Amino acid sequence: MSTTVPLLEAQDLAVRYPNGEIALHDVTFQINSPSFMAIIGPNGSGKSTLVKTFLGLIKPFKGSIKVNGLDATKKSGKIRKMVRYVPQRDRIELSVPMKVKDIVLMGRLLKKMPPRFASVKDVETAKEALRQVDMLDLWDRPFPELSGGQRQRVLVARALASEGSILVLDEPLAGTDVESQDLIVEALGRYHKENDVSIVMVTHDLNPIHTLVQDVLLLKNTVVGIGEPCTVMDPELITKVYGPTARIVEHSGHRYCMTRDSGIDRHD
Ligand SMILES: Nc1ncnc2c1ncn2[C@@H]1O[C@H](COP(=O)(O)OP(=O)(O)OP(=O)(O)O)[C@@H](O)[C@H]1O
Ligand SMILES: [Mg+2]
Repeated sequence: MSTTVPLLEAQDLAVRYPNGEIALHDVTFQINSPSFMAIIGPNGSGKSTLVKTFLGLIKPFKGSIKVNGLDATKKSGKIRKMVRYVPQRDRIELSVPMKVKDIVLMGRLLKKMPPRFASVKDVETAKEALRQVDMLDLWDRPFPELSGGQRQRVLVARALASEGSILVLDEPLAGTDVESQDLIVEALGRYHKENDVSIVMVTHDLNPIHTLVQDVLLLKNTVVGIGEPCTVMDPELITKVYGPTARIVEHSGHRYCMTRDSGIDRHD
């Protein structure tokens, strides 16, 4: 069911880093709520910057962006209460021998007032979230011992277990194999369908998720395309962003994007 307040609404947004780098300019778009949406674009196209801006972690140089009607500059505290965020590079200290369960429970406990004890419900929710990404067997394993892909799955479980009406994941599929990607994507898709939660997923590869997402925002430091995956998977838009070698391939009624990232034009 669509509500009148958009999930994201940017108006003439520009973001400049202190070194003068203009990461985003002339960004105007609207995404309706609720949505499972993807933000795509090549490296350096401003995807993470956009996320950090709407979470209020970076201030715009110009314009504004709102999350569920709340201005990211003025209401960042409220926005962060509503959002569960999985950053691109999580700064979990790997020298501390935290167990998988501690990591996932952290997602629930951090939003509580101290003293922070895990209730039976917290433990149940954490276990269910790990089950969703097929990691429950690792409940008692030290997190630093896990492979990169397993860690990603645990971090997604932590986000699923925590509370908030918007889930924001920056490149959750990075460093994962196809099996882990499928597990993560299916778990997110299920979660979006079964709960009243919007999901914003940053990815440089739309192919693993394009059958699940409703809206896609294609960035190259400004908005190049916006709409349903099939609309954005357009040869003209894709070559604008990924260069002349990018191709759209149609298969079983879906459009897939082939870029140098995905292997096309590799002769090695
Ligand atoms: N802290 C920073 N200081 C200066 N410039 C930055 C900073 N962070 C990012 N940038 C620049 O802003 C631009 C956008 O970066 P951003 O990290 O948002 O891209 P991205 O689309 O998330 O890329 P990736 O796919 O590599 O994660 C890049 O040119 C980058 O060099
Ligand atoms: Mg990024």
